[in-house]
Amino acid sequence: MEDADAFIAGLPKAELHIHIEGSLEPELTMALAARNGVALRFASIAELRAAYSFSSLQDFLDLYYEGMRVLLHEQDFYDLATAYLKKAASQNVRHAEIFFDPQGHTDRGVPFKTMIDGLWRALKDAERAYGMTTALILCFLRHLDEASAQRTLDEALPWRDHFIGVGLDSSEKDQPPSKFERVFARARGLGLKAVAHAGEEGPPDYVRQALDLLKVERIDHGVRALEDPALVRRLVHERIPLTVCPLSNVRLRVVPDIAAHPLRRMLRDGLMATINSDDPAYFGGYMNENFSAARFDRDEIVTLARNGFLAAFCDDGTKRRYLSELDAYGLSRR
Ligand code: ADE
Ligand code: ZN
Repeated sequence: MEDADAFIAGLPKAELHIHIEGSLEPELTMALAARNGVALRFASIAELRAAYSFSSLQDFLDLYYEGMRVLLHEQDFYDLATAYLKKAASQNVRHAEIFFDPQGHTDRGVPFKTMIDGLWRALKDAERAYGMTTALILCFLRHLDEASAQRTLDEALPWRDHFIGVGLDSSEKDQPPSKFERVFARARGLGLKAVAHAGEEGPPDYVRQALDLLKVERIDHGVRALEDPALVRRLVHERIPLTVCPLSNVRLRVVPDIAAHPLRRMLRDGLMATINSDDPAYFGGYMNENFSAARFDRDEIVTLARNGFLAAFCDDGTKRRYLSELDAYGLSRR
């Protein structure tokens, strides 16, 4: 039997939790800094990479926002997303739902149009080049206020058909989902899907708030939900997908090490867990590396990949096609 890494490499996968700004590799950061005349406090790629050691989510976010300052022009956003999609396609990611953080750019004076045009062009080119499907999810930064999120949604409306949903990310501590109840209601009223980061560093109650107040269809991370057995029962019963990111959780010290990661327990408990990369340039791996990290057995690997397609927001026909591809792959490798 081929080894687990080869099996994972060929496995058709869906990625549902990837921040496009978190796919900015040090090489591209330095190249864009030079191209755009942006001064960085790092003299080399090696120096920048050496800074990728984090003690918490906030510690990481400080560098993440610093890195994205090199993104100024439409072509920069195109190059960023193109690099991610090329890598994802090479790992047999068949469907990708990609987060972007407009406020991280518009607050620096980059027009919404510049960013979305570059991302959109990259997505359409990759769909043609690789035969994959893609979508964008607009995330609100939760450390900013609700008014800023509302303005961001206003600004995005001319491109309403370019994104399928809204999400909530950035610093979780002391930033409850309740802050964003109205803007999420408005987004859902526009027919947008809703997801939110919850239970990464924040308490199980934030997962509950995301479900009850923001009415999200998926929870991003959700690891800390395990501290609350009643909440776990609810997530199982309502089949709420959790987009889990194992390498991110290790790098941001949500768990002490990969052996302590509760993904296997999540599957055993009947939770609909999926595997994702979060910020692959910063956390040491894309989809394959995240699938490989926890040393799952074949049945677990296939279940995780199946959950990814089941939890995706693509249409039913596309979903069925990917699930058939996955079934055929699993059977052919028995
Ligand atoms: N933005 C980018 N990565 C994030 C993460 N892991 N949690 C919250 N916000 C983020
Ligand atoms: Zn995330």
